[in-house]
Amino acid sequence: MIGRLAETFLPTETTSRRVEILPSLMCADLLRVADQLARLRTVGVRHLHIDVMDGSFVPNFMFGTTMVQQLRRNTDFRLEVHLMTRTQETHVDRFLEAGAHVIQFHPEAADAPGDLIRRIRRQGASPGLVLQPALPLKILDPWLDALDHCLLMSAPPGFAGQAFDLKVFDRIRRLADLRSKRALDFEIGCDGSVRRHHLRRIVKAGADRIVVGRVLFDTGRSLPDSLNDLRRLCHKAAEPASTRSSPGPTE
Ligand code: DX5
Ligand code: ZN
Repeated sequence: MIGRLAETFLPTETTSRRVEILPSLMCADLLRVADQLARLRTVGVRHLHIDVMDGSFVPNFMFGTTMVQQLRRNTDFRLEVHLMTRTQETHVDRFLEAGAHVIQFHPEAADAPGDLIRRIRRQGASPGLVLQPALPLKILDPWLDALDHCLLMSAPPGFAGQAFDLKVFDRIRRLADLRSKRALDFEIGCDGSVRRHHLRRIVKAGADRIVVGRVLFDTGRSLPDSLNDLRRLCHKAAEPASTRSSPGPTE
């Protein structure tokens, strides 16, 4: 059981708000994934981002229910599924059965997003919606008060390693404004081709969680070092102005 090794490691008290970093499993070395997850656990990673692709909603294939099942059985990570499928009730049910804690899907890929959101919550998991860069924020409007998560993509869904869409900074900011105006409490996430030099602006715009793929797994450094480097940059950006010394890496 890859389990509770170092909960106390998380230096969150010094920052005004918490920023969660979520490794994207599809960018891990899948032939060494158990070892990589154990290393990430030693530095307090608790949430995993799991991309599911059906070759139809996006022209690519990625994890299924078996991976979620095995992670649930053998680890204590919070399993956050990103469904890039023509999302039917059956898909949601299968991933809930497999043990997903969070299910996020693309509203344009579902016939009745509201019903799916209620179904996810009724079965004890957290519902979220994902918005690809090409679609306007207002698409999320009808369901914002029913969500725990809004994931704004900073690259088109389907592949890691694409160009980062700089428009996401303004979209995060506008969504955060909307959230406070309506006194809602969903968490705002950013997913897709995030690089080190994007972190400060993503955090400053108001994001609470950041999905990291290649910027974590493809650095040539140890995973704990890479993760701590990203965490340091996020916490620096989240620090209240009064406690901050230097600004961090620029564009
Ligand atoms: C892409 C996925 C992302 C991806 C992130 O469609 O939704 O989660 O794995 O990996 P990077 O950050 O390397 O693009
Ligand atoms: Zn994703």
